[in-house]
Amino acid sequence: MEEKLTSNEDGSDFPAELEYLSGFGNHLSSEAISGALPQEQNNPLVCPYGLYAEQLSGTSFTSPRKLNQRSWFYRIKPSVTHEPFKSLIPRHKKLVSEFNHSNSSTNPTQLRWKPAKIPESSTDFIDGLYTVSGAGSSFLRHGFAIHMYTANKSMENCAFCNADGDFLIVPQEGRLWIKTECGRLQVSPGEIVVVPQGFRFAIDLPDGPSRGYVAEVFGTHFQLPDLGPIGANGLAASRDFLAPTAWFEDKVCPGYIVVQKFGGELFTAKQDFSPFNVVAWQGNYVPYKYDLSKFCPFNTVLIDHGDPSINTVLTAPSDKPGVALLDFVIFPPRWVVAEHTFRPPYFHRNCMSEFMGLIFGRYEAKADGFLPGGASLHNCMSPHGPDTNTFEATVTGGNDAKPFRITDTMAFMFESCLIARVCPWALESPDMDHNYYQCWMGLKSHFSLEESNLKCTEMQNRNYSRGNGYVVEKLAQKMEDAVDLGCK
Ligand SMILES: [Fe+2]
Repeated sequence: MEEKLTSNEDGSDFPAELEYLSGFGNHLSSEAISGALPQEQNNPLVCPYGLYAEQLSGTSFTSPRKLNQRSWFYRIKPSVTHEPFKSLIPRHKKLVSEFNHSNSSTNPTQLRWKPAKIPESSTDFIDGLYTVSGAGSSFLRHGFAIHMYTANKSMENCAFCNADGDFLIVPQEGRLWIKTECGRLQVSPGEIVVVPQGFRFAIDLPDGPSRGYVAEVFGTHFQLPDLGPIGANGLAASRDFLAPTAWFEDKVCPGYIVVQKFGGELFTAKQDFSPFNVVAWQGNYVPYKYDLSKFCPFNTVLIDHGDPSINTVLTAPSDKPGVALLDFVIFPPRWVVAEHTFRPPYFHRNCMSEFMGLIFGRYEAKADGFLPGGASLHNCMSPHGPDTNTFEATVTGGNDAKPFRITDTMAFMFESCLIARVCPWALESPDMDHNYYQCWMGLKSHFSLEESNLKCTEMQNRNYSRGNGYVVEKLAQKMEDAVDLGCK
């Protein structure tokens, strides 16, 4: 069937519509030419159409079956067919995969960045990628890195391969057209894409100026969170994760470069053909995308604010049960209905480290200053919460706030059990908001014994007055309870 193509700014083509394979963690198979996939075994003496068989392992050979991830590619030439790797010159100086005193520092101060400017000079995804924060080490297979990218042109005659970890890419501005060894993906702001460790991929930027966030995890892979008492359905549904279908190009590409990120350094290797030469594949180690608007959020329906973990889309687990090396959490449009509750996120200090970004709209805990494309870092145990304006406006709104729908917003958080170190170029960035702390400095003491007692009694009366018959029966008991609680 003939593909309908759309043209990139630089003249390259990409299909207007792509077909995907649905399901998270499934064992999938796909062939661009019928009969290209061996049916009887993984590694026949001679593969159909004279293809080479090649396995890509995402876990150790001996990982337990439920965790084991690998795929088999059937390709025109094997990926080993390249010249030796050489250090990229000039060096990319802003990528880190082993965080230590020499390349990053710690600081418990709450940090916030304005949106980074997109460069005017020619910059592709690799050039425009820079590490902001992270912890641990890709060498020791434990840790994470948070990167951002600002770019304006497609990768040309080159592919990227990250040997350090998995990339979870969150485009904020500009679509991504991604070629991978499993096929192609179109990813728009509002969607995310995961490119697992070791995959070769190339990113076209059909809209030109582009910006986004990247979480990288070392030594583990993303999985869907357990749902516990929520039950069998809810949050991100397995079927909404989409993997590519097989696609290949049989192209001679003189001087083609594979750029490999290895221990945070970039190396290049020349070859004379496109690495996107996989005619068929099968396995459960695949790149995939997810549309965040498909998320099925859960929320409190009576009192209090749920912990943000309720909005976990994907989690990269640590070795401790329930403790994430890195969670990807979103704050999507939803109804807010809680009664006699401070509805925005509460003030808190967290043993985890929280990096936040905003894809579009406004975040409910910040009246201003946190902009789409911007970011914040609230490191382990650093206090944070709603800013002064949000707090005052919410409390002034009183106890009679009606249910309302938070719309047109998509904030997210990368949350890690590790203490995040911050790279010097991020700390010294002109985008650093040095006045961030001011957003909380206006929070005044409202403490007054007399006023507090009055408010407490008034609120209880209002709450109990919602069900008349019930109130008459229970009021006396409730007031006794209130006395016990200190609302005398
Ligand atoms: Fe927080």
